[in-house]
Amino acid sequence: MRYVGDIAVGPVGLGAMPLSIEGRPDEARAVATVHAALDAGVTLIDTADSYHVPGGGAPGDGELLVARALAAYGHRDRVLVATKGGRGRTPDGGWTVNGDPGHLRRAAEASARRLGVEAIGLYQLHKPDPAVPYAESLGALRDLLDAGTIRTAGVSNVDVAQIRLARAVLGDKLVSVQNRYSPAVRDGEPELALCTELGLAFLPWSPLGGISRSALDGPSAREADPRFGAFHRVARERGVSPQRVALAWALARSPVVVPIPGASRPETARDSAGAAELVLDERELALLGP
Ligand SMILES: NC(=O)c1ccc[n+]([C@@H]2O[C@H](COP(=O)([O-])OP(=O)(O)OC[C@H]3O[C@@H](n4cnc5c(N)ncnc54)[C@H](OP(=O)(O)O)[C@@H]3O)[C@@H](O)[C@H]2O)c1
Repeated sequence: MRYVGDIAVGPVGLGAMPLSIEGRPDEARAVATVHAALDAGVTLIDTADSYHVPGGGAPGDGELLVARALAAYGHRDRVLVATKGGRGRTPDGGWTVNGDPGHLRRAAEASARRLGVEAIGLYQLHKPDPAVPYAESLGALRDLLDAGTIRTAGVSNVDVAQIRLARAVLGDKLVSVQNRYSPAVRDGEPELALCTELGLAFLPWSPLGGISRSALDGPSAREADPRFGAFHRVARERGVSPQRVALAWALARSPVVVPIPGASRPETARDSAGAAELVLDERELALLGP
């Protein structure tokens, strides 16, 4: 198990974004994907109020889907649902950012209603808004903690200085950082090192970083790709998927890492969750690189 604050979670979470944005599966497959993840030991689900299809969808569609899937599963108390506020969609598929404190307070209250909880287990500020001083956006999370709307807080898409500021504003109620981190995007080391030092859970987003698409290429192209070649090689030797190797590599980076791979199919959710049991040895880790 790993920890998000004082909550123990399975080492691999589920990123619920592909279940409710463009290309999303139908309801039955989406619910089956969540259930497959839970059956495989996942106890952390990441979503956001902005995970909905642009145009036809509405803010919170992704949260409502997660709530329906958990209600149908029956053991929702075992699962930490982490949602986010501070982003939105444009009708043409773009993403907006809104760190206005009033907006964040209203957004969190709406997320709690949709998730059907009195207090959100983990509420993350999706992205710093360049138009709003970061301390003011963080102040909204502080207010939400004080009001009991959220139990713990997290930040996302942040640098070292922003993590330190969040820690100063939120104290030990800051429990997580969600940044992009994968075999293809490894420039988040300073933030990961700070999270390890402070004991903050580090949730790599898009932890597969394109390895799934690279798996569609032929065997020689796969192993020649400088970003993913070693992952495909280790996967072949171990008889597991390269995605599972990528997640095991992330887990080996630090005990605070809890990857949140996305999935829109039960098979992929199940396969990714299996990374929790894949322990890479020194030779394999050296091959995969820092
Ligand atoms: N904070 C932020 O700004 C931010 C930004 C982006 C994402 N996120 C979060 O991070 C989560 C993960 O990111 P992501 O969904 O963009 O990318 P990802 O996890 O890197 O990749 C997801 C894709 O990989 C495929 N996949 C997953 N596990 C697989 C496996 N074991 N074998 C083969 N293919 C596999 C899935 O395929 P299928 O669809 O076929 O299942 C899915 O299309 C999101 O769901 C979201 O919760 C946060």
